[in-house]
Amino acid sequence: MTESAERPIILTGDRPTGQLHLGHFAGSLRTRVGLQDSHQQYLLLADTQALTDNADNVEKVQRNIIEVALDYLAVGIDPTKTTICIQSCLPALFELTSYYMNFVTVARLERNPTIKTEIQMRGFERDIPAGFLCYPVSQAADITAFKATLVPVGEDQIPMIEQTNEVVRRVNRQIGNDILPECKALLSNVGRLPGFDGKAKMSKSLGNTIVLDASDKDIKKAVNAMYTDPNHLRIEDPGQVEGNVVFTYLDAFDPNKAEVEELKAHYRRGGLGDGTVKKRLEGVLKELIGPIRERRQELAKDPTYVMDILRDGTDKCRLITQDTLDEVKAGLGLFRF
Ligand code: TRP
Repeated sequence: MTESAERPIILTGDRPTGQLHLGHFAGSLRTRVGLQDSHQQYLLLADTQALTDNADNVEKVQRNIIEVALDYLAVGIDPTKTTICIQSCLPALFELTSYYMNFVTVARLERNPTIKTEIQMRGFERDIPAGFLCYPVSQAADITAFKATLVPVGEDQIPMIEQTNEVVRRVNRQIGNDILPECKALLSNVGRLPGFDGKAKMSKSLGNTIVLDASDKDIKKAVNAMYTDPNHLRIEDPGQVEGNVVFTYLDAFDPNKAEVEELKAHYRRGGLGDGTVKKRLEGVLKELIGPIRERRQELAKDPTYVMDILRDGTDKCRLITQDTLDEVKAGLGLFRF
């Protein structure tokens, strides 16, 4: 076998409900680009999961599969190293979900902090779609079907990893053999990136995102709208760096860490204006996004190329996930006609 067979396996996924943005880039995309040489990496376009709260919006979800695939390729995911696949085209994932469902209680799902917050935020109460409540189980199927041990995700997904490992232990105990590996979340060293308006979450519905093909004009507009220190009224005043979105973004994206530290010290002392710091951030973001945007525009001109990558990747993953399903079924003692 090739050496790739021994590399640690990574599976991660995204719900294709919209273009990816800088929050995704800082939280997980760039980690994935960095890992594709040393790991066997799979990226799942989780369209079935997206349908758990978009059942009446199939067209949006399907269209965004292409958008997210373009984002992957544009940031440097290399399809010769990383395999990209479409969740709804991998039936083994849903068969695994059916078996795993019996090892998870409704009470446990309702206690999953991510699900709990989402139930509250959306006011679902008891009217939560059953598919939505159960998506952590389907995510456990995604991860285990690939036998992934590492899952690069944002902090909000940690409860999913914990729940996956609970499923893993229960299934292995039932089978009497550790055929499913436990997995670990791989977090980026920057925490969750706030929206450019300073709100904790960057999200499309809040209109505070910077997409990965933002124009120079969009970038400028977003940076100008950024929240700084409201008490930093005159340039000479000492300013606060903590909670200052411009510095949060510089920390996340400016390659020159030493200079950012100097700027912070200067800002704290006083004498450094918001305008100067914003100009720097604008430059940093233009330099980061410019090449991604160009590459994305080029790729978007060749839909056949993108479709071929998705089809080939999905074909490959169909075999991998089917193998795991066979193993689990055999382990559980089910017929496999
Ligand atoms: N729940 C993830 C999100 O909201 C998407 C996802 C689906 C995923 N399946 C996964 C992430 C498996 C990691 C591993 O973005």
